[in-house]
Amino acid sequence: MKKLYLDYAATTPTDPKVIKAMLPYFYKLPGNASSLHEAGQIAKKAMNQARKTIAQSIKSEPEEIVFTSGGSEADNLAIKGVFYSLDYPHQHIITSKIEHHAVLYPCQFLEKQGAEVTYLPVDKYGMVNVVKLQQAIKDETVLVSIMHANNEIGTIQPIKEIGQIIKAEKEKRKKNKNSLPIYFHTDAVQTFGHIPINVNDLNVDFLSASAHKLYGPKGVGMLYVKKGIKIESLIHGGEHEKGRRASTENISGIIGFAKAVELANQEMEKENKRLIILRDYLIKKVLDNIKGSYLNGHSEMRLPNNVNVSIEGIEGESMLIELDAFGIYCSTGSACSSATLEPSHVLMAMHLRPEVAHASLRFSLGRWTKKSDLDYVLKRLIMTVNRLREISPLKVK
Ligand SMILES: Cc1ncc(COP(=O)(O)O)c(C=O)c1O
Repeated sequence: MKKLYLDYAATTPTDPKVIKAMLPYFYKLPGNASSLHEAGQIAKKAMNQARKTIAQSIKSEPEEIVFTSGGSEADNLAIKGVFYSLDYPHQHIITSKIEHHAVLYPCQFLEKQGAEVTYLPVDKYGMVNVVKLQQAIKDETVLVSIMHANNEIGTIQPIKEIGQIIKAEKEKRKKNKNSLPIYFHTDAVQTFGHIPINVNDLNVDFLSASAHKLYGPKGVGMLYVKKGIKIESLIHGGEHEKGRRASTENISGIIGFAKAVELANQEMEKENKRLIILRDYLIKKVLDNIKGSYLNGHSEMRLPNNVNVSIEGIEGESMLIELDAFGIYCSTGSACSSATLEPSHVLMAMHLRPEVAHASLRFSLGRWTKKSDLDYVLKRLIMTVNRLREISPLKVK
């Protein structure tokens, strides 16, 4: 049976060129970057080069890159790292209701430690309102964390505009030497290596990324930390990463990460044009051919590879299981947790009608997706929808 992987937003296959670049660092070049002997120095040199490649890709400096075990750790390091670095008990954090749990859960954790957190609402396209964000800033606000693009619905947030607001707030605070600092973090796990990022243009202080979302290996990521900002390390034990994250560096992973970044930069422009055509083709075909289907997320401010649709009257989970049986791998934001029977926090925050929120499917396309794959998906999807609607008590008008 044909197998069609359309879940690239969950994780990507590791590019064979990335694997090739990593292989020597497992056995032939085994050094620990902290060792003084030749093997250690080879590892250190390779890591420094990788750090440079990754830094250059976002127009930052190598010292501003802290390697982590992935996006979740990078998000945790930014949020908790700021909180613990400041000697002030009533810190205020602003984030949005649609962040990944790697941002929401550290925020909830810090609430138990005395932080106040504002969870901004979003509109029906999953977009944060910059005016509401500006209004939420107060003297105690030390961190604003808004994701670059949402992993479920693909909506790209106005990060540059938010960056301008935080920059103006920083200028204002400079006039009062007793004021707290304010920092801006963006979770760019879904955009890094997919759309161009310049940390200076965006005015961000922290940016999280993860290699496995851009055809790199799992278990490695990074946090960009703007020069001059002190954060508290979450892992103590050694002076790795300039005291910001103890543990022997994952050299093969870091080499693979940099190779993935290099490939992404070479292919980004051309690949995005190709993906946007495929994305819009699939969206149009679904909306034209399936009655009661809707696009979730923004139609233009959208990741090039994200197709998230709701098909009224059918549980997303049921469609996912049926498509899985046809060898089509996608995902749903409508998985019911048995306790609440509620769809994902992202769809809930967008105030979708329950029939729509419960019926979402996300197809995320990637480097190996072809138009013929989408025709196959469409055919199977229409069959599945017809079959499930026949047995469903819900009627679609
Ligand atoms: C937006 C976003 N943030 C953070 C993460 C977590 O990244 P990782 O799996 O590398 O820990 C993900 C992964 O799904 C994500 O999509």
